[in-house]
Amino acid sequence: MGRIHFGGDYNPEHWPEEVRAEDIRLMQEAGVSMVTAGIFSWALVEPRPGAYDFDWFGRVLDDLHGAGIRVCLATMTASPPPWLTEQHPEVLPQDADGVRRWPGSRQHFCPSSPVYREHAVRLVTELATRYGTHPALESWHIGNEYGCSNPRCYCDVSAADFRRWLHERYGTVEALNTAWATTFWSQRYGTFEEVFPPRTTPTFPNPAQVLDYARFCDDALLQCYLAEKEALRRITPDVPVTTNHMPLHKPVDPYAWAAHEDVQALDFYQDPYDPETHVGAALAFDVTRSAGGGRPWMLMEQAPSAVNWRARNSPKPPGTMRLWSWQAVAQGADAVLYFQWRATPGGAEKFHSAMVPHAGTDTRIFREVRALGRELAAVPQLAGARSRPEVALLADWHSWWALEQGSHPSADLDFAETLRRHYRPFFDAGVECDVVPPDRDLSAYRLVVVPNLYLMSTETGARLTEFVRAGGHLLVSYFTGISDDCDRVHLGGYPAPLREVLGLRVEEFWPLAEGQHLPLTGTLTGSGDLWSEAIDLEGAEEVAAFGAGELAGRPAVTRHAYGDGVAWYAGTRLPVAAMRALVDRVRAGAGVAPVLPGLPAGIQATVREGAEGRFLFLLNHGAGTATVTLPEPMPAVAGDGVDPAAGPVASVDLPARGIVVLRA
Ligand code: GLA
Repeated sequence: MGRIHFGGDYNPEHWPEEVRAEDIRLMQEAGVSMVTAGIFSWALVEPRPGAYDFDWFGRVLDDLHGAGIRVCLATMTASPPPWLTEQHPEVLPQDADGVRRWPGSRQHFCPSSPVYREHAVRLVTELATRYGTHPALESWHIGNEYGCSNPRCYCDVSAADFRRWLHERYGTVEALNTAWATTFWSQRYGTFEEVFPPRTTPTFPNPAQVLDYARFCDDALLQCYLAEKEALRRITPDVPVTTNHMPLHKPVDPYAWAAHEDVQALDFYQDPYDPETHVGAALAFDVTRSAGGGRPWMLMEQAPSAVNWRARNSPKPPGTMRLWSWQAVAQGADAVLYFQWRATPGGAEKFHSAMVPHAGTDTRIFREVRALGRELAAVPQLAGARSRPEVALLADWHSWWALEQGSHPSADLDFAETLRRHYRPFFDAGVECDVVPPDRDLSAYRLVVVPNLYLMSTETGARLTEFVRAGGHLLVSYFTGISDDCDRVHLGGYPAPLREVLGLRVEEFWPLAEGQHLPLTGTLTGSGDLWSEAIDLEGAEEVAAFGAGELAGRPAVTRHAYGDGVAWYAGTRLPVAAMRALVDRVRAGAGVAPVLPGLPAGIQATVREGAEGRFLFLLNHGAGTATVTLPEPMPAVAGDGVDPAAGPVASVDLPARGIVVLRA
């Protein structure tokens, strides 16, 4: 992108046209270099079917161009206009009980609806035809937060589309019966016509059907995106396309979508009331960067201060908006944008903060926005640089969909929470991570972490085994490698695809009662909770054992030297300190060092490397000033208490919420 872009959602239709001159002037003052425009403009640009009123929108683009502001142009399709659903009520989505969702909000469309897609594509074609060569156009922003409010529709249109999808996937109904194990509970299907979406059932639905429905629903959303993308590509083959994802959003698999995006875009709203908010953000940023194979990505939305959709909406205390914006840059973002430019007086988001608040520009928020815009404008050399983590965590949306269903040994398994727990010790230690899907090439990593990957194909098991044989280090946690892609259990002792590399067999799961803790004995201290299991060693050595309960004396954590590498296994959920101790040992064996040794608590350190050099980012998420001693003197690029014009510095005093970027 050539620079670190700065800006936000620009919704000029909320205001009389004369406000725009002030908008543009203030954008320039604030260093705004990019806006995403038109996201919810459908009803205004197409007030009647096929009758367009684009004049006002064209003037907006012209004015932005005149000010040198690039536009990531939205395709306007996230909120169908009232005429569409009035004329075609079948476009409206239905929940699993058959209850219809009505207009009056947004995203009130069934993702499988051909009527919705046809109207969306018609609008997008019109947009691309009109503005495809507009000089302000930088990229296309397709839809908006796919699946935020309509992740799953269960209407008859969806049912028919699901049957088509199943037919394509399985070919014959016999193959479907086998995949879904429909001999169970008399579910055998004679034709695809007999199959329904997993609407509300008297008791547990078929788990493979639920899994396939999650796959289908994600795919239906993706097909909406692709229908628009195809129309855009026909007319503007060289203009990049993207869409903004929500963080760790269960209905939408970012890895599947990434193949169809030219740049990854994420919306992340840090919660000032959550002391761990920056850790959750770090994980989501790493997922986003990894989805794109490490290329620079866009933080498409964040709040300048408070949001309006939590139960209690804290403003961002002074300095945190800057800190959390730099965090995205430190983790690979080349654009930092907000929702939204100017706070509206009406509508459902009137209490959401904006770059220009209700109180105007003589405000803390605008001053902080302006300062950050200027700061980011001064560091174009950072753009394009990449990080190169040596650790990968595996995440798999299909496994997530299969894991969190009823009828399992425990209802307490929560994939996102488990992923965070495995990510946290690396973040705390200052070790950068990628978060990749299981089919990625793992050869560039020294260490691969596999948290609760319930669904695992035999091939993935074989690849992980090979990874260790060739010298890689592997850390696997409980209830991993249990079922295949159709959610059928791999037989012969759990986790069958990994037994050889882990050197063990799990005979029986023993999930723990609520609040139950089992003390650990051996070389890890603390107690496991949530989960335990009966592990038989088959070559692995015991690292820690259960110290109480029915499994007292049996292994809880193991280590197996295999080939040229080592495979570790945790058969219980470890508390934070024990997890940290385990990860430190695993890392030491794998030769994975933090970005800087001896980082003070609360300091995040990352490295981005590119054509313009190698840059070290230091961010202070802690409450007090921290001193970071550098391994060698480094010139400063930007940040607190440093002068880029002065010579190299040997150490940095980082105030709370401070940031520094150095040339490493
Ligand atoms: C999402 C949407 C925006 C806006 C913000 C508010 O990210 O994409 O349109 O509603 O939330 O936080």
